[in-house]
Amino acid sequence: MPIGALMLLAGCGSHQETKKAPAPPMTITMDGFGSTAAGETVNLYTLSNTKGMEVKISTWGGDIVSVKVPGKGGKADDVVLGFDALDGYLKENPYFGAIVGRYGNRIGKGRFTLDGVTYRLATNNGANHLHGGLRGFDKQLWRAKEMPSAEGVRLDLTYTSKDGEEGYPGTLTATVSYTLLGNENALQIDYEAVTDKPTVVNLTNHSYFNLAGQGVGDILNHSVTILADRFTPVDSGLIPTGELKPVAGTPFDFRTPHTIGERIGAKDAQLAAGGGYDHNFVLNKPAGDLALAARVSEPTTGRVMEVLTTEPGVQFYTGNFLDGTLTGKAGKVYGKRSAFCLETQHFPDSPNQPEFPGTVLRPAGRYRSTTIYRFPAVP
Ligand code: GLA
Repeated sequence: MPIGALMLLAGCGSHQETKKAPAPPMTITMDGFGSTAAGETVNLYTLSNTKGMEVKISTWGGDIVSVKVPGKGGKADDVVLGFDALDGYLKENPYFGAIVGRYGNRIGKGRFTLDGVTYRLATNNGANHLHGGLRGFDKQLWRAKEMPSAEGVRLDLTYTSKDGEEGYPGTLTATVSYTLLGNENALQIDYEAVTDKPTVVNLTNHSYFNLAGQGVGDILNHSVTILADRFTPVDSGLIPTGELKPVAGTPFDFRTPHTIGERIGAKDAQLAAGGGYDHNFVLNKPAGDLALAARVSEPTTGRVMEVLTTEPGVQFYTGNFLDGTLTGKAGKVYGKRSAFCLETQHFPDSPNQPEFPGTVLRPAGRYRSTTIYRFPAVP
């Protein structure tokens, strides 16, 4: 039974001068999701709008547990991979739906130098640091608060990462706001963070999408557009070489739509390094502007997802490491390339790459980042 139900009037208080009829109510409800090994209570929030979209978010890892959106004929499907029960998320898993931090993506050799001091981070990906280390933000319990919003229904999650956690300097308090919009089917994620010592920050969400529905085959037929003239080629450990390489004439040219499968098997050293696409694209839009980064469409359901972000980059990952060993929601087995990720971010290894946009946060500053996953209505 949902508890703590809160009804909100979407759009109330805004555009009153246009005398629009108030939008129908949207809801946010909370259920128990279980408890951690340490006995902490984990909750599951359900955000719904009146256009048929529903999102479930867990306070463990801030995980997006499900995203239901209508496709052709109004049929709603859950389009993200994950687990039915908390247990799946507590066990080792490849960041299904999780908030990733303190630094999303890789930091070469797990070290960086800031203001003359070298910091050593946990190494959990060969010699490198990946997605915040051994116990990143995806393996933490977040404090939840339902918040008023004129745009939709909003849930704020907060986590305080201690000075020295996973090797990072400074106590960092991060707040991630999930807002399910009311006037369209879109999930907006706003990230904020403050620190008491200089540190590095790069927050993202690691949802695995399959627009045909979670567990429905692979994503090779999905058509992808990424508004990027360049990408960051990587070495064999997936650390950027520092070059911003033009996508023109390569399988990385998604400036016009291409299916994922079309060139994923091409003879290409970068595709070989990633075992498929697992690369950061350098977005064309001006830094800091909230603008379209990528668009993905799926032919059988007609479903489309657009990704807008303020971030300068996006990691396009095609589930190359999924191998059929994980069984997820509704008993579905997640095979290789059964989902894709579009992780909006600053570029990997930025703390060691002075030419890349900076990721340093100082006590006087405030980290801010916004990403929207939008699902236009399917005719
Ligand atoms: C990111 C990385 C991948 C992989 C996945 C998780 O997308 O770039 O290499 O680590 O996360 O499996």
